[in-house]
Parts: sequence; C-alpha cells; structure tokens
Amino acid sequence: MRRLLRWSVAAVLVASGAVPILGLAVEPAQAVENGLARTPQLGWNDWNSFGCNINDSLVRQTADAMVSTGMAAAGYQYVNIDDCWSDKSRDGAGNLVADRVKFPSGIKAVADYVHGKGLKLGIYSSAGLTTCAGYPASLGNEQRDANTWASWGIDYLKYDNCGQTNGISGPTRYATMRDALARASRPILFAICNWGSDDVRSWGATTGNSWRTTGDIGPRWSSVTSILDAQPGYADASRPGAWNDPDMLEVGNGLTETESRAHFSLWALLNAPLIAGNDLRTMSASTRSILTNTDVIAVNQDWGGRQGNRLSGSGSTEVWTKPMADGSVAVVLLNRGASTATVSTSASAVGLKAASGYSVRDLWAHTTGTTGGTISSSVPSHGAAMYVVSGAGTSPSPSTTSPSPSPSTTSPSPSTSPVTRPCRVSAVVNAWNTGLTEQITVTNTGPGAIEGWSLVFVLPGGQTITGGWNATYSPGSGQVTAKNLSYNGSIAPNASVSIGFQATHAGSAGGPASFSLNGSNCTVA
Ligand code: GLA
Repeated sequence: MRRLLRWSVAAVLVASGAVPILGLAVEPAQAVENGLARTPQLGWNDWNSFGCNINDSLVRQTADAMVSTGMAAAGYQYVNIDDCWSDKSRDGAGNLVADRVKFPSGIKAVADYVHGKGLKLGIYSSAGLTTCAGYPASLGNEQRDANTWASWGIDYLKYDNCGQTNGISGPTRYATMRDALARASRPILFAICNWGSDDVRSWGATTGNSWRTTGDIGPRWSSVTSILDAQPGYADASRPGAWNDPDMLEVGNGLTETESRAHFSLWALLNAPLIAGNDLRTMSASTRSILTNTDVIAVNQDWGGRQGNRLSGSGSTEVWTKPMADGSVAVVLLNRGASTATVSTSASAVGLKAASGYSVRDLWAHTTGTTGGTISSSVPSHGAAMYVVSGAGTSPSPSTTSPSPSPSTTSPSPSTSPVTRPCRVSAVVNAWNTGLTEQITVTNTGPGAIEGWSLVFVLPGGQTITGGWNATYSPGSGQVTAKNLSYNGSIAPNASVSIGFQATHAGSAGGPASFSLNGSNCTVA
C-alpha cells in the first residue's frame, strides 16, 4: 500500500472543448493583460455589512481602520464601494455623479484620502442599464464611465450583472467594459460579478482579473458550504491575474469564530480574492486576528500552478489541498458535521514525495512540528485545521513505513465510507509488456445534469502517462485535460463522456481503483 501510494500519480481530467481538433495541445487562455492581481486581491467591500447605507465617512473611517488594525500591513489594499453610491440619474451630460448626500465632496476626494493612506479605492457598476439596487449602470456608457472613474482615481471596478441587457450576451457586455478600462488613463482592476453565469469559467480569465462563481454569500455556515461545493468545477480556470471569486468574506459577520476560521482557511486555499465584508472599525480582536493571519494569507498569495481543490471527502469531513510554489502542500482538514471529528490524510495522499519525515506548519497555532506521514487533527464542528506540509529533506527509505502521529493530535485511520455522487466510471485497460492504454467513460447516473466537472484518480504504482486522446497530458504531474468535450460543460442525465490515455508501466498494468468526480467518489463499474 505504501509503495503504491508513493509511486502513484494523481491524474486530473477536466472537460475542455476549447480546441475541437484531436491531437493538438490546448493553448491555455491568457489572463487579461492589465498587469493587476498577479496574486489574488485583498481588500474590503461595504456590501455585506452596510448594503446601501454607505457614505463618505464610512469609507474614510474604514481606510483609517485598515491601517490601524494591521490589515494593510497584512496585505489588504483595496477599499471598495459597492452599489448605491451614485445619484439615481446621470447628469445633463450623461455622466455618473456621486450621491450628493452620501458623498458630498464627491468620489475623487474620497479617492485622494484613501490614496493618502497608501490604499486603493474601488467602485461598482453593472453590465446592464441599472445596478441591482436600481441605480444607473454602464451598458452603452462603458467608455464614458471608465473615463469618469479614472479621472476620479478609481483603482478597482466590481462589475455586476443586473439591469436590462438589450439582448447583448454576457461575454460581450463584459469584454466591452474590459476594453473601455484598458483605454482609460489608469490601471483599474476588473472584478466580474456575474454569479457564474454564461459559463464564465471559459472566458473570465481573458476578460477580467476575477469572476464570481456563484450567487451571493450570506452570513451563515450553510451559505459558506454551498458556495464551497461549487468551487471544484472551477478549479482549473484560475491563474495569475485571473481568479475565481467565491464572493466576499463573512468573517466576523454572524459566523462563529470557528466557522470564520474555516471560511477564511478555505477561501485562502482557493486563491479567492480576500475581500473582508465586516465593519473594520468595530471588529473584535478575534475577527481581526483571523483576517490578519499572515500564515494563511501567504497560502492565498502563493501560486504553485493551480488553486486549491477538494482532494477527498468522507461523510462530513473533507481534505482540501493546494500545491505551493516551493513544493510544499497546503492542507485544510474540514469538518462540516455537527460534532467534533478526527480528519486525517497522509503526506503521500496530498501529493508529497516519499520521505522519512515531513515538517508540518500549523497555520492557526503558528507552530511547526514533524510527522512520519500522517496529517491528522481533531476538528470541531464547522471548523477546519490548516497546515503547510513539506518534505523534511530526508531520503526515503523503504523500511520506514510506519507513520507517526502528527503533532496536532490523534491519528486514527480515516473512515472509508465514501461520499457517493450519482455517477459511474468504467475503465477499459489494454496492456502489453511495458505499456498500456486506458479508455475512461464517465456516466451521469443522477437525475440532474452534472455542471462543470473534473475527475481525479490514482494510478497503480509504476505507471507514467505518455499520451492521451480527447485530452492533453502532462507526464510529470500526471495531469490530463480533456479537450474535445464541452469546456467544463455539463453531463446530462444518462449521458457519458470518454477520455483515454496511454502510459508506460513498470509495475501493475491495472487501471485506477477509484475515481472522484468534483471531489466526491464515483461508483466504479
Ligand atoms: C449583487 C451582487 C452583490 C452586491 C449587490 C448590490 O447581488 O452579487 O455582491 O454587489 O448586487 O446590489
């Protein structure tokens, strides 16, 4: 078992129809070329705590608090005004104007103040005729509005999806604003807020610096977890300059301290923009210490080639991982259940090379320990433990196979009852002396479509992928990306998709024994 895991290759299959020609590699879409958000943006937005009840002093006081609380020192930069900042109508020349009561000195004065604190100012509009709260929005006025914001010193635009669209498609409406911002006189980060609609995962990276993947978050654990469940389908769309946005933070807004920590850990691991949504002026010491946890923020700001994703699930516990640029792996052990549970994984399962020992940094306790391989913690209900695990630099030895407990608690073996989703995977293997081919078919056996999917499996020991069909492949990482199937598209009830690969094998010529679709186990036919 140890040997199998040590030599195993995790292969990721992702539907992608960008190139409908077999045999050609898919060129990854480039990020929007404005040089911004090379790491996920950090900041604050007024909407989650204040809705339309905003004004000049709230924004200035928040900028003050961002500096005085240590948030700015921890990396937070953007102070973002959301909906309801303007007059209900444009001025006689057709320009947007600030609400004269809420912002009596205008937005430029606020921008000057925020810039004086070393911070940046964000504003909000919508790719329709009105914003979600009914204020004038930018469809048809994209260049005019981009120029207005630039002249005020705006640094960030959150661009919503409300209001009449005059029949213009989502991708076109957002591309028009992207191009208008590019022609404006200052760099403006472009945050798309279209709630995951119009298959934004296929065009978000070439259009904006970030894009919302779901509807609005609320200050409830159930909201955090339901948004979380939508994220595996987006994992492959992000890259430097272009981030999936699971929505702003609710840390300190009605979640318990434990829930807030789990929420912050997961959003960091997902490379989400970390946009605080609480009142920074009055936050508790505990909320502040969560938001300024620089160990966790460092995971968010690191790019090791892909964002974090769900590795495995077992009942109400889950393991989420993210590769880090230095070869270490960030790990979140999540307990979604109603009572304390032990959540466990291992260094080999999270993708680390075999070693006789590993270093484990606990990002909430801020301590560093060692383990022989087990990564395990007793996690409270609705809580998460978060670690960065790295090889300790020792040579692997075949005889050092007994894992020692992690520093952080118990080490029972993980429960084996899988979360099953309505899907079936079958694999046909054709093997010869040193090679094999494998055809994998995924069938949706549930009543609803599977929207956006990725398939992960572990190859038996000794196999290395050398080619694929309906797929591009990466022999080193074992990652396979499907390419003639609809891009992260849906699999209709009873429909199937097929992908294949060829591999060399030095050991077993069998196929993978288990598959996980969007992080949950699939029945193997
Ligand atoms: C939408 C967005 C929210 C917020 C409101 C403002 O619901 O998704 O984040 O901006 O509009 O009206």
